[in-house]
Amino acid sequence: MAKVKSVFFCQSCGTQSTKWVGKCPSCSEWNTIVEEVVTSAPATKGKVRLPFTVNQVVPIQDVKSNPETRVMLPDAELNRLLGGGLVKGSLCLLGGEPGIGKSTLLLQIAIQASNLKILYVSGEESEQQIKMRAERVGMKNEQCYILASNSLDTVMDKAAQLKPDLLIIDSIQTLYSGYIESSAGTVSQIRYCAGELMRFAKESNTSVFLIGHITKEGYLAGPKVLEHMVDTVLQFEGDRHHIYRILRSSKNRFGSTSEIGIYEMQANGLREVENPSSVLLSEHEDVLSGNAIACTIEGARPMLIETQALVSTAVYGTPQRSSTGFDTKRMNMLLAVLEKRCGFKLASKDVFLNLAGGIRVEDPAIDLAVICAILSSNEDVSISSKNCFAGEIGLTGEVRPVSRMEQRIKEAEKLGFERIYFSKYNVKNIQANLYKNIELIPVKHVEETFSSLFS
Ligand code: TYD
Ligand code: MG
Repeated sequence: MAKVKSVFFCQSCGTQSTKWVGKCPSCSEWNTIVEEVVTSAPATKGKVRLPFTVNQVVPIQDVKSNPETRVMLPDAELNRLLGGGLVKGSLCLLGGEPGIGKSTLLLQIAIQASNLKILYVSGEESEQQIKMRAERVGMKNEQCYILASNSLDTVMDKAAQLKPDLLIIDSIQTLYSGYIESSAGTVSQIRYCAGELMRFAKESNTSVFLIGHITKEGYLAGPKVLEHMVDTVLQFEGDRHHIYRILRSSKNRFGSTSEIGIYEMQANGLREVENPSSVLLSEHEDVLSGNAIACTIEGARPMLIETQALVSTAVYGTPQRSSTGFDTKRMNMLLAVLEKRCGFKLASKDVFLNLAGGIRVEDPAIDLAVICAILSSNEDVSISSKNCFAGEIGLTGEVRPVSRMEQRIKEAEKLGFERIYFSKYNVKNIQANLYKNIELIPVKHVEETFSSLFS
């Protein structure tokens, strides 16, 4: 008979302990330890389950690389994010806040990939609800099968019969296996179900997509083990009330993690945004103070993004500093640089900073645009919308060089900008005579930028 015992698991990091404690000894989170009943699975008793490959030692030059291991999905952004298509037999996790569009994105792929046989499993919606959504988005694939089930065993049975190219699970938190006695969504269930799905993916060479919920702090719900187990982790972010959604990869065994995909949520599903600069620049004729355009690179693509700042006299004793899309600590650092190195008095001012389109940027090259937008608002002098900026700011106020300057200049020139401000240290890496329609303005220090801009 199977032995039943109760174990305490931390719901945040997955640490196991034999008794209940208030604070997890591993991740120091409070009130995350939950009792779960674990049955040691009788199915494995007496026989050892074989691993999914035959273990052999092979010299690496003898391993044949197979060019056909990737399949193209009907979504160019996702293909690029995955490193050039979906790898067969890979396990991919898609996380994001409720209502951001995770189910929509994967259902859209399921019903539009006419070259693939797909099984879409939903533990959250009924068949009719899935159908209603599919009709809104528009169906193309005749080989898309749906299954509304919570049971891992049913899913595995049906998948083994159907032999799909791609299995989509919406969501891993609703999946339940009879081998584990705790309820769906607990650490032991998630770990077990994900482990079984991984085994299935590797054994049958089927790609598997898992949808995962995230906690209110923004982490993927369930143990970190889940993130370690899968090959790719994608995060869907953006403001639910905004139409733009950003897909980022935070782990990818088959490609780079610096790529992002941009989508627009429309009445008939998610649409890919091919030219992000066109949506991230607002088109106003009259030039207002506090706006500056940054030339950034996210992943492989250069993008021009509008940064807006508002500086006003603080009404209350402590001035407010807030920013959307940009690290507030970094903004405080830039304000300190302006105060100390350039002599602007901002200590008693409220400063608000906003990046257009609800996007979050990690490229340090945005610093120069941020500092110019803040100063433009403070002095109430506008910056021409034909100028753009790319440079990182150091603590001494110097403009530091940034990567791939040529690509940035080309994009700015293509979009009709007339002047680009960048670091003097970048000059040696670029061929200035290539750019006929854009004026290159190398600067060494922020003060030099201001005197060239505002005088
Ligand atoms: P959904 O995919 O259900 O989110 P998740 O699975 O991440 O929880 O997306 C739901 C939101 O998307 C919902 O609030 C409505 C909106 N939406 C559209 O605007 N257009 C559409 O065509 C669809 C299907 C959803
Ligand atoms: Mg959903």
